[in-house]
Amino acid sequence: MDYNYLLLLLLLSSISFIQISSTKKICYGPYVTASSLEDLHQDIHLVEPLPIDCGGLSCEFYLSPSSALGSHGPLSAYGPLGITGPIGHYLWNPTTWRFRSNEIIDWTTSDMLFGRSNNPLSLTGPLSSESYHLKLPSINDFGKHLQALGLWGVLGPLGPLGALGPLGPLGPTGPHNTMNLAGHHSVSVKWTTNETHDFDLVEVLDESHVDEELDCSFMILGVISQIDETDRYYFNCKPNQFVTIVLVPEHSLDYFNISLFSSTDSSEKIASSDSMNYINFIQLELMNNNNGSFRIDVSLHEMHQYILAHSYRLIVTGSHDLLDLKEEENNIKGPHIIEC
Ligand SMILES: *[C@@H]1O[C@H](CO)[C@@H](O)[C@H](O)[C@H]1NC(C)=O
Ligand SMILES: *[C@@H]1O[C@H](CO)[C@@H](O)[C@H](O)[C@H]1NC(C)=O
Ligand SMILES: *[C@@H]1O[C@H](CO)[C@@H](O)[C@H](O)[C@H]1NC(C)=O
Repeated sequence: MDYNYLLLLLLLSSISFIQISSTKKICYGPYVTASSLEDLHQDIHLVEPLPIDCGGLSCEFYLSPSSALGSHGPLSAYGPLGITGPIGHYLWNPTTWRFRSNEIIDWTTSDMLFGRSNNPLSLTGPLSSESYHLKLPSINDFGKHLQALGLWGVLGPLGPLGALGPLGPLGPTGPHNTMNLAGHHSVSVKWTTNETHDFDLVEVLDESHVDEELDCSFMILGVISQIDETDRYYFNCKPNQFVTIVLVPEHSLDYFNISLFSSTDSSEKIASSDSMNYINFIQLELMNNNNGSFRIDVSLHEMHQYILAHSYRLIVTGSHDLLDLKEEENNIKGPHIIEC
């Protein structure tokens, strides 16, 4: 065959390939990342509703790198999700001292908690529509922006610090010992007096034990042992929920970055976060009627310490279908939200 003709053919096929792959891109829903917040440079005048009353200090203050979202905030290495908190394998972590799981005791205590109609995950707790939609924003504008996709949504009730996260009753300090618990597990919880809701437990796994697709609620204790290493994890989230992915460094001078892909199409990057000012996270509104089968990549972006291991905690928290996402549309608007 003529060489030029072959070249032309190659060129044409690569053009059509680019076209096909760009039109095929799935829209999972709007999302916020640490990087998209950083791009605001603390300028919030285009955010709606505009936060004005955040308590004592200005709302802009709470976006400074030394504040709520940064390396001294609650998501940081030395916050409750880090190594000095309750979860871990060190002697000072309460989860180290838990008895080996005894299923009968676990399920009995589980039923004593989740079987009560005023349990923390029930309609009387922080996850009810009344608490989330009315009480939280009535506190002040910081409260309003703790809602999903708000400026501080990653710190809010649907994120890893909330009732569904690893520190809550579904995690390893709750009735079930979820440390090193492989597989997908859920518990039936009394939501109202005559309704139950199944919630996924927050399994805590070492990276070496992750050899399957995870569900939408877990915590991984991982480490980057070589500078150019990338750790990959696969997980699946049911549609119609907010999915919050947070990368907590175990040591404050390590800077990680995360990228979210479709697990079936590795060329399809959905979102990424590589902030040096804030703890990296992605909060995604998973709207589509597809299951979200994802891959999350973790790498070291920069390191400013050379003595301790570059270890991290990757936490994924799904909000379950407690909210009707159609009603949440346009709840919060602003340039920090990336639409697809
Ligand atoms: C639960 O009970 C309430 C009030 O008694 C009733 O309005 C509601 O329909 C019941 N729900 C179900 C799922 O049975
Ligand atoms: C993280 O950043 C490094 C260097 O900036 C880059 O090579 C890598 O692809 C990024 N990884 C992820 C998972 O975003
Ligand atoms: C989503 O995944 C669940 C569990 O893997 C499965 O039962 C369900 O059929 C899937 N739904 C869709 C729309 O793919």
